[in-house]
Amino acid sequence: MDRLWAFVEFGSGVFALLLLTFAVLWGVAAADRMLLDPNHRLIAQAIHRGSAVGGIGFLGLHIWSKLALGSTSWQAAAIPGLDSAQPILIGMGTVAGYLFVAVTVTGAVRGAFARKGQSRLWRALHMTAYLAWGASLVHGLRAGRAVADWVDWGYGVALTGVTVVLMMRLAPGRNSSGEKRKKEQ
Ligand code: HEM
Repeated sequence: MDRLWAFVEFGSGVFALLLLTFAVLWGVAAADRMLLDPNHRLIAQAIHRGSAVGGIGFLGLHIWSKLALGSTSWQAAAIPGLDSAQPILIGMGTVAGYLFVAVTVTGAVRGAFARKGQSRLWRALHMTAYLAWGASLVHGLRAGRAVADWVDWGYGVALTGVTVVLMMRLAPGRNSSGEKRKKEQ
């Protein structure tokens, strides 16, 4: 039992960050027609959804364990900025938590946004995952125990990769996947 608790205490936040990072990376890959063919995109989407759901599960454990340990208060967990020791760093975790849950829940009920015009709203909501990821990286890598350099570097490489892909996608004349998607809807 002690081992299980030690895992929940030390591992749940780390696994939440890893799996939600994985969800972002596979989401980027699944959305891009240049990187993968349709069959591989289906596999990427399945990995994207599975890791998002797993990440939210570990996030629930993480928040529960930090509250059970008294590392922060219910008020600080619910309202960003109320933690007495690290208002910004813990607040960023709270913001990331709300956004990730909203993105995952609306992602799971995408069909409800199928009506014309609402797919844009869904995409805008889904895009907030990048904001959530950024906030969770700052929180996860700086709020708790000191992390090894290779961990910082690993997440840094992931962040740079995602930024480069997004910039390429937003570049003028390189929006064919977005155009195609619009026609499909
Ligand atoms: C309501 C939301 C959240 C609360 C209340 C919360 C609370 C905390 C607290 C109190 C710590 C320890 C700080 C210390 O040791 O002084 C921590 C650390 C950490 N959090 Fe969060 N967190 C939240 C959201 C998140 C999210 C969204 C992620 C990642 C997806 C995350 C990942 C981590 C990681 C990796 C650590 C460092 C390792 C650890 O101490 O467990 N947290 N969090």
